[in-house]
Amino acid sequence: MKILVTGASGMLGATLVRLYQKNMDVYATGPGEFPNNPARKYLKFDLSEKTYDVLLKWSEPEAIIHCAAMTNVNVCEQNPEKALAVNGDSVKRFLDAGTGARLIYVSSDAVFPDNVKMKKENSPVTPANVYGKSKALGEQHLMAAGGSHCAIRTTLVGRNINPSKQGFVEWMLASAHKRAQIPLFHDAVFTPHFHLAICRGITMDSSQQNQRNTPFDRHGTGFEI
Ligand SMILES: NC(=O)c1ccc[n+]([C@@H]2O[C@H](COP(=O)([O-])OP(=O)(O)OC[C@H]3O[C@@H](n4cnc5c(N)ncnc54)[C@H](OP(=O)(O)O)[C@@H]3O)[C@@H](O)[C@H]2O)c1
Repeated sequence: MKILVTGASGMLGATLVRLYQKNMDVYATGPGEFPNNPARKYLKFDLSEKTYDVLLKWSEPEAIIHCAAMTNVNVCEQNPEKALAVNGDSVKRFLDAGTGARLIYVSSDAVFPDNVKMKKENSPVTPANVYGKSKALGEQHLMAAGGSHCAIRTTLVGRNINPSKQGFVEWMLASAHKRAQIPLFHDAVFTPHFHLAICRGITMDSSQQNQRNTPFDRHGTGFEI
């Protein structure tokens, strides 16, 4: 199966590429190069460009796993137009290209504000910031398209393959090595998924050809809620 993975320099995308290359024909894309890139086929492409046909002609995918996003909430707040284009309208561009590829869009729990109770798949989205709005926009495009596309609303924790990325786990490990104090939250409750569990979940959902035209939430265990 030919798969295009976007955001392949990011935590989830690079991990997906490394795992999926074992038994699938994986085409990977990100906006820049990075050391230790596991991708055998990699094309530099910025999703704020309009030339998606170049990317799609190169990869001719049967499925697109769309992991790319501007994930820094403050940067999104400062660049709302770009955030909406990269995180939201990129979905429409992939769909409008008419390749017939199934799109799996990695969305976010940020389509809801922080202070809400557990939501259902069909609860109305009420994003509190530009990042959340941009992910909600991507979901809207996906639902408007119909078909077997799907969105996965998640929040992630895991290690980065790309050495220039410093996420939560890298920060914890570096602090522990330095025996530094680790200040953490005492007023936040959320359910992050281990990134490898998301990779497994995506495999399962791709193979089941989920026909519903709604986003869905998933525990790390793979049970729908
Ligand atoms: N991490 C979380 O806690 C979390 C929570 C909820 C949802 N999500 C969603 O899960 C997905 C994967 O997250 P992640 O943690 O792997 O994020 P990440 O490590 O920040 O990776 C994001 C990827 O998107 C790429 N990207 C950013 N702007 C781009 C642009 N203009 N054109 C093309 N690519 C661009 C990044 O490139 P660079 O390497 O150059 O930055 C990187 O490859 C994202 O869609 C995110 O919204 C993540």
